[in-house]
Amino acid sequence: MIIMNRNTSPIKPLTDEQIVKVVQDTTYNQYPDQERQRFIDIYAAAYDLNPAEIEVANGSDEWIQKVIMTLGGNGVMTLNPEFVMYTSYTLQVKPEILEVDCEPDFTFDFAKVARAIKAQKPSLFLISNPHNPTGQMFATEDLQLLVDTMAEVDGYLVLDECYIDFAEDYQRPVGDNIVILRTLSKVYGMAGLRIGMAIAQGETFEKINKINHPYPLNSLALNLASELFSDKRKLNAHKTYQFESKQELARILSQVKDLITVKKSYTNYVFTYGDLALDLAQFVMERGFLPRTYELEILKNAARYSIIKLEDYPAFNQAVMKWREKYAE
Ligand SMILES: Cc1ncc(COP(=O)(O)O)c(C=O)c1O
Repeated sequence: MIIMNRNTSPIKPLTDEQIVKVVQDTTYNQYPDQERQRFIDIYAAAYDLNPAEIEVANGSDEWIQKVIMTLGGNGVMTLNPEFVMYTSYTLQVKPEILEVDCEPDFTFDFAKVARAIKAQKPSLFLISNPHNPTGQMFATEDLQLLVDTMAEVDGYLVLDECYIDFAEDYQRPVGDNIVILRTLSKVYGMAGLRIGMAIAQGETFEKINKINHPYPLNSLALNLASELFSDKRKLNAHKTYQFESKQELARILSQVKDLITVKKSYTNYVFTYGDLALDLAQFVMERGFLPRTYELEILKNAARYSIIKLEDYPAFNQAVMKWREKYAE
């Protein structure tokens, strides 16, 4: 089966030589102190951030759990649908998660979201931008409304930018109650190494770091992550491959947009929905491609496809076009 349900990179970013060199040079007999700071400095330089406002953990997953534990005391709210782990981690420590449903076309009415925040006063709101699972990018003014409304109820907004490298950069909302989450699991191709970053300022940064381990990540993962940024040309080629892959994925699925709705995506996956969306998903599954389908009621007619190796697209294209024939007049 070719995996299209994980939103990960289909290729690895480092050569075997780079990996051997990093392993040889890693002083794994010592605790990983300098390695952590070195990676944070490199990441901060790459994105023009203040290294003092960045901390690492085991994937953004761990950050999601940590922000729920440190900021979610008076309730956690999110969109529906959203990244499934927001719900899973909330239900580890709370009886419920508060949700605001999407509209029938999978957009969100942010005035409605703001009203729900004012009525229920959660202390934490989690949102992914670009959005998982729909792939859309939210407008700055909508995000600013969320930040300001959360501030009114003394709460925090987590802006999960897991897929940001697949989008164009955007004007971020402002506020000292914002936490931004990033990861090396997607465009950077290191999902297995579990490297996630949180970016926040002042008291917000202090609060989310209250429950840290002394050495949040191991030295090998940190050094491999630092190595990733050491060769800009190679890194750009790694990213470009995936951008091309995304374009091809979107092109292939656009050929059936008269039969299913194919949402414009700012991520490494494409979201489809409609009466025939699951039929296509089932059809390509029978031909060796595994998209993401859902049990959740709101997503029962949806399927999401993430990028694959360029060499696998001809067969995927063939499967999609064969499915089209079923509905030809
Ligand atoms: C929106 C979003 N946030 C966070 C994650 C988890 O990323 P990580 O591998 O950094 O834990 C994912 C993974 O699919 C995701 O889609």
